[in-house]
Amino acid sequence: MTPTRFDSVARAFDPDAEGSTVHLRGWVLRSRSSGGILFLVLRDRTGFVQVTGRRDVLGDAAFDAAEHVQVEGSIEVDGAVASDPRAPGGREVRATRIGIVDAGEPFPIFSEQTEEFRLDKRHLAIRSQEFVATFRVKAEVLRALRAFMEREEVLEITPPIITGNAAEGGSEAFVIDYFGRPGYLGQTAQLYLEAMLAPHERVYGVTYSFRAEKSRTPRHITEFLHLEVELAWCDLDGLLDFIERMFADVCHVVSERCPKELELLGRPPAELAAISTPFPRITYAQAIDRLEREGFPVHWGSDLGSAEERALTISERAPLFVVRYPRELKAFYMLQTPGDPKTVEAADLLGPEGYGEIVGASCRETSIEHLIERLRAIGADPSAYEWYFDLRRHGNVPHAGFGIGIERLLRWMLRREHIRDTTPFPRTPSRHTP
Ligand code: 4AD
Ligand code: MG
Repeated sequence: MTPTRFDSVARAFDPDAEGSTVHLRGWVLRSRSSGGILFLVLRDRTGFVQVTGRRDVLGDAAFDAAEHVQVEGSIEVDGAVASDPRAPGGREVRATRIGIVDAGEPFPIFSEQTEEFRLDKRHLAIRSQEFVATFRVKAEVLRALRAFMEREEVLEITPPIITGNAAEGGSEAFVIDYFGRPGYLGQTAQLYLEAMLAPHERVYGVTYSFRAEKSRTPRHITEFLHLEVELAWCDLDGLLDFIERMFADVCHVVSERCPKELELLGRPPAELAAISTPFPRITYAQAIDRLEREGFPVHWGSDLGSAEERALTISERAPLFVVRYPRELKAFYMLQTPGDPKTVEAADLLGPEGYGEIVGASCRETSIEHLIERLRAIGADPSAYEWYFDLRRHGNVPHAGFGIGIERLLRWMLRREHIRDTTPFPRTPSRHTP
């Protein structure tokens, strides 16, 4: 008889479970049989356990059927929990019934396949232990960030994705046909967060942002999860303090709540627990000096690409802030440094160990004149930003904000070589399916 209530696989490992009967259901991780005994490993969301089934207990027909269940086939198991030092975790379930939900076809994913094939079969590849661990940590990161925002009294708001403005620079925006007019997929929610600032003072949003960057690098995807924060009455120092507290907090929470996942993925939890504030801060000018001394062909005005960012942090264990970039390298909305209009009040937070930019931050320009000048310089039409200028006309206040790429954060946190392995269905210039 099919039971109506099921236990989790984790139940089999409870201290008092030995000798008790459990009803499990899940997916077959692997199986083999020899001499009338079937050994399989059953997985559910709480873990995996070895199941043994004997021909003389199950009966010939049921045993033969169970033997033919494929990897990733789905089954139900009734049985008794027993100790067995040879089984993973020291416990096994001795089956009295194996019910087949879907015996499955041969699972197409196994080791020694090309990365391209695995990307084609991503909808199945995401069942691997690595991906399971990765997406648990991702959920924990989002939970921790939201909890931090709540403690800091920052309000979550819901900005749009479809927009008539290409905020970070028109060339990298995906253009859509919006009922015959051009529309864009949002590259940032920032301008909308700024609008929500006047009534709420501290706001954040978690949205997908889109970048039509052709760059095939291990740190770019065309669709990424973007947590953006906007704070009224905030200057650059206040902003960096907020960012580093948030960053350290999420590291500590993940180290406490996901130690097993971190270990599995090759990041000792102690390394995240050790992240402490304040983070070192250097100016862009100092970064250029350092890079020149190290032989990079850079000068004041050069953009810092992955190679340069890597060199700045490759031997560091702590994240590094680089502040006050040349105006021409940065977005139109960034505040010109008072007394030094060549630079803007902006900061990038670079991940340790050479991982590069994880956070982009700045104080926002409050002068409409400066905004128009910068928009013209990048070839944008200022008239499309009239609504944004309104924000400067009605109770404008000093304010600042930042965006953190969740997949960039995870790439460093989980030591992934490629950013695509921090998102279940990565979008890159060569792929938007499955
Ligand atoms: O530095 P960015 O372009 O800044 C902004 O969009 C600001 N408007 C954010 C704000 O102040 N509200 O992007 C912010 C972060 C980067 O530091 C990076 O972590 C991530 O977004 N990011 C990407 N992540 C993955 N793939 C890409 N192509 C990314 N582009 C940016
Ligand atoms: Mg940036």
